[in-house]
Amino acid sequence: MPHIVFNQHHKLKTPTSCDGVLFTFIAQSYNFTSSVRKTEYKVGVKSDDKEFLLTLKQKDDNVMLKADKPTRVTPISIVKHALNAYAKATSSHIVFSNTSNDSHKVEPQREYLKEIEYFVNEFDTNKEIQIEIGFGSGRHLIHQAKANPEVQFIGLEIHTPSIEQMLKQVKLQNITNILAVNYDARLFMEFIKSNSVSKIFVHFPVPWDKKPHRRVYSNEFINEALRILRVDGTLELRTDSRKYFDYCVDLLTHLPQGKITIDINKDLNVSSKYEDRWKKQGKAIYDVILQCQQNDEAINLDKDFSFPKAIDFDKFKKNFPQKALVEEDFVVHIEDVFDIEPNGGLIQITFGSFNKPLNKYLYVKQGKINYFQGNPIPTSANIKAHQKLKEILCHD
Ligand SMILES: C[S@@+](CC[C@H](N)C(=O)[O-])C[C@H]1O[C@@H](n2cnc3c(N)ncnc32)[C@H](O)[C@@H]1O
Repeated sequence: MPHIVFNQHHKLKTPTSCDGVLFTFIAQSYNFTSSVRKTEYKVGVKSDDKEFLLTLKQKDDNVMLKADKPTRVTPISIVKHALNAYAKATSSHIVFSNTSNDSHKVEPQREYLKEIEYFVNEFDTNKEIQIEIGFGSGRHLIHQAKANPEVQFIGLEIHTPSIEQMLKQVKLQNITNILAVNYDARLFMEFIKSNSVSKIFVHFPVPWDKKPHRRVYSNEFINEALRILRVDGTLELRTDSRKYFDYCVDLLTHLPQGKITIDINKDLNVSSKYEDRWKKQGKAIYDVILQCQQNDEAINLDKDFSFPKAIDFDKFKKNFPQKALVEEDFVVHIEDVFDIEPNGGLIQITFGSFNKPLNKYLYVKQGKINYFQGNPIPTSANIKAHQKLKEILCHD
């Protein structure tokens, strides 16, 4: 995680601009418990059309400024630039930094890196769509994109360096038919039209033998895949893990209907980095392909994430529910509160799906509440969690 450590730190007055970065506010943690905790600050940043936070806190005898994980944006060079700009704007004395942006490196092709909001609000194409989940080094995705220029590929990955590496190849090889998104594949499909995708590749997913709830494959995942696949479209698993293979076959053979093909040690035209490794070790490779045979109805997502009433923030911060509210299919937890000005600040929340909760902030200005960095994406769990938050925050 990029960060800078200062041994002498001058506080920043906001709003202030430096090197194209606008620092909008500094929020200070509110001490709501009887024991005095270390003060932490959140610095509001606007840069390159993105909005995010930096965390400033005491570390031993020094002060550390780092990226705030829940609001971190990609590419990470934007965050590093903001950290450097903050250091410059405050003329603070740096004792450690890992934020140098090496300008000799090939910059990833950002045009093809999309935020999830793009898929919620804008994405539309007449082209055939194929999706690769967890593309890693991107070897298979790039091979497919070059071999099928008429197809629109969507690459999902949660590991930022892999995304950057793949987008560098996109630039070097002039590829124009891949859109990459840094997003959990298990949540992504909710925003894709029914019956619109011809292939979904899941090659060498992490087996998660000890934490099966983190696996990409589950009943929900398979059903969502079937919804977005058009008739004859395929969900293609390739794995070296016998346990994962058995687990998936078990899930797939419990479907009410379907067509499944299994191959052992099938050769593809391209071998991924992981595949090379497993082949060298003499491991067997299993392919399980599910073919979709059904047409599904269109889905309609409720996108209203507004808060109808203003709150008395100063009253709220002194007495808010600190326990997580866990319901059957969603969770809401108010984690922390930060002051910015009278009747304004940040409310840090964890909410949404219990297995894949979202970390976000609410930005309160003169009692009016909005989601910082924009509304959450309208998953069914987020919509339910928002209703609960409204009840907690906007009650009479
Ligand atoms: C074992 S690697 C395989 C990479 C690549 N498919 C290959 O064959 O070389 C699994 C990849 O899936 C990504 N991944 C894991 N869980 C994911 C999820 N829920 N959504 C999207 N990507 C995920 C990981 O970051 C990792 O890059």
